Amino acid sequence: MAWDYSEKVKKLFFDAINKKASSHIGEIDNPDGEGFHGSLVCGDAIKLSFKVEKNKDPKKDIITKIKYLTFGCTSAIAASEAICIMIEQGKYTPIKALSITKDEIVKFLDGLPNQKIHCSIMGVEALRVAIYDWAEKRNVDLEKLGIKKEQKQNKKQDSSDFVVCDCMGHTKSYVIDQIKDLKLKTVEDVIDKIKTGSVCGKCIDKKDGIKDILKELNNKNKKEEEKTPYMLTKEIERTVHEKITPILAKDGGGIEIIEIKDKELFFKLKGTCKTCSSANNTIEYVIQKTLRDKVHKDIKVKQVL
Ligand code: FES
Repeated sequence: MAWDYSEKVKKLFFDAINKKASSHIGEIDNPDGEGFHGSLVCGDAIKLSFKVEKNKDPKKDIITKIKYLTFGCTSAIAASEAICIMIEQGKYTPIKALSITKDEIVKFLDGLPNQKIHCSIMGVEALRVAIYDWAEKRNVDLEKLGIKKEQKQNKKQDSSDFVVCDCMGHTKSYVIDQIKDLKLKTVEDVIDKIKTGSVCGKCIDKKDGIKDILKELNNKNKKEEEKTPYMLTKEIERTVHEKITPILAKDGGGIEIIEIKDKELFFKLKGTCKTCSSANNTIEYVIQKTLRDKVHKDIKVKQVL
């Protein structure tokens, strides 16, 4: 099948395979951060490695050189190039690089065919793993900065998590996150976009497999849609008090609810959170993500200054 690639994708791909000086294919010796994502079984895998210019405050380290090795298609190579260019040209710190999304990569590439979006996810995931590696080496406590580590595709989140797809090593929590993030609806979408179920297919029909996960999420969505504004307000309040406040309080921070309008929460940060340089991460990864996971997928949060 011939894919309709943008001119930018084609240029980055040909520059890479022709080993032009601008290409980032390769591996960095003694990297400060290194990450792998994908599976050689399914035929798509990316390894990213980077070097930083070290600062006395590791949070201000700048990524100066980043390279990748990709076992995959045109899109996987172009998406990896895109990540490297964005980071090097933008003089990103590893923490800032964590905010790169698959949508930004797709935009940078002037689009990708729908069936190839998983290639951009792979790059983002490999980058995350490389940044977690850097954080460990540089003794940076990401959780303390309000950055909740996203799960690796094959790392169980807690004792209730398990590997759904043995061929790809994908855990249930990983599959659920990708289904929500990419708004996947069918088994075909899941196979197309994230490759879970793409090898032997046994994980599609088995108990707690892909079909069961989709059904479970579908039921959850239906229940969410049935919530009245009153129920939403009460659930947001309860989640803020019972789940979010204790997390912020661990580091002397807090949150005050100002107003709840339908699915939107207006709040003030309190204590150490008010002056924390990572407050944006706390808002996105702790406050908003928790409310979206526990109350409704469309919750929006807004800080009142
Ligand atoms: S278990 Fe083989 S494709 Fe999922």
